[in-house]
Amino acid sequence: MPVPANQTKIQQALGLDDRTSARICAIGVPGRPVDLPDDARANELLNDFAALEEDRVECLAARPDPAEQPELWWVLTVLVDELIRTMDAPIPIDGFHAWPALPAATGAVGRYLYVWAMLAVVPEVCAVHQRRGVSREVTIQTLSALGGVMQTHRQITGLGGVGLFHLWGPPVRFRGAGYDLGRLHFSRAELSFGEGPIGYVLNVHIPPIGPLEADQATASLARAEEFFPRCYPEEPATMLSCTSWLLDPQLAEYLAPSSNIVKFQRLFTPVAQTIFDDGDAGDRELMRMALDMLPPDDGPITAEILGTIPQATSLQRAYVQHLRAGRHWHQRSGWAPFAANTPPASTGSCIH
Ligand SMILES: CC(C)(COP(=O)(O)OP(=O)(O)OC[C@H]1O[C@@H](n2cnc3c(N)ncnc32)[C@H](O)[C@@H]1OP(=O)(O)O)[C@@H](O)C(=O)NCCC(=O)NCCS
Repeated sequence: MPVPANQTKIQQALGLDDRTSARICAIGVPGRPVDLPDDARANELLNDFAALEEDRVECLAARPDPAEQPELWWVLTVLVDELIRTMDAPIPIDGFHAWPALPAATGAVGRYLYVWAMLAVVPEVCAVHQRRGVSREVTIQTLSALGGVMQTHRQITGLGGVGLFHLWGPPVRFRGAGYDLGRLHFSRAELSFGEGPIGYVLNVHIPPIGPLEADQATASLARAEEFFPRCYPEEPATMLSCTSWLLDPQLAEYLAPSSNIVKFQRLFTPVAQTIFDDGDAGDRELMRMALDMLPPDDGPITAEILGTIPQATSLQRAYVQHLRAGRHWHQRSGWAPFAANTPPASTGSCIH
């Protein structure tokens, strides 16, 4: 893909590191004008999508402007173009690359930029949901991941927005590739064993919305068995796949056999572990995802960092004990067969 002539200018103006700049520029160039909702509509949508008042007020005040922030506007238009271009398509076999964290120096407009990118495509994603027969309840729950991430962002960084995080889950939902069905989130993806796409898989994710009760997880899987064959009959999924810190079997050495995490592990057959050169990556992932704490960008979890981790729960104690013993945590993958139900008559429709 040709590098945009203004890449260097944008990289310098926004203070992007090389990796972030390359990721954004690899998406493409702005392909269409972007139409943002006005403040009243944006506020209504953010409210629908579970954004707290404090976050809504800040977001409206941080509306990007093409004249005042031309470089951030360029990034916004690239991302909106990507969402619309890939709308309703499953995640391809080379994956969906997360939107990269933006430097803190981009300020409030940078931190809320991705929120505005997603608000810009609400008409398109709702049209997809409507065409697919997705109920209002599922649409609202799915797109409310945006408000959830805004809350997590504030909790972890102390600042509103989403831009200091690498963002994967919300854009996947706003391009119509992922749905929240009760406790679990499912993203549609192409399936491959290395020779190009040969079918479809549903990737299972666990949103941070409370405990992972076993009966809720089972009910969510049952909903998926009804939902996907009805809404995506041309994409017959044959298996569920999950890649998560939750599937690290080492957790069972520390957590009670009755814990929700250990019960969830039993739903999946583990696949062989992929060994990465960066042996600390799983430790950082667990710190971020499981403990809701901001890990260092690179490198190990030092003894000093370990000393800051609260020791109130068995998971927190397990995390620290394991690393102090010189061991590491790993993101692991597992799979389970997907037993699709016969599609019943279509029900429900989208809201907007
Ligand atoms: C996945 C999740 C719902 C599991 O929580 P849960 O249902 O409470 O799980 P368990 O019952 O197995 O918990 C076992 C122990 O870990 C503790 N624990 C679970 N999540 C914790 C967290 N985020 N921080 C600290 N402790 C946690 C529990 O309180 C419990 O402690 P206890 O034995 O002292 O009572 C929860 O960790 C979470 O929301 N994580 C964030 C989302 C996430 O990581 N998703 C996966 C993305 S790949």
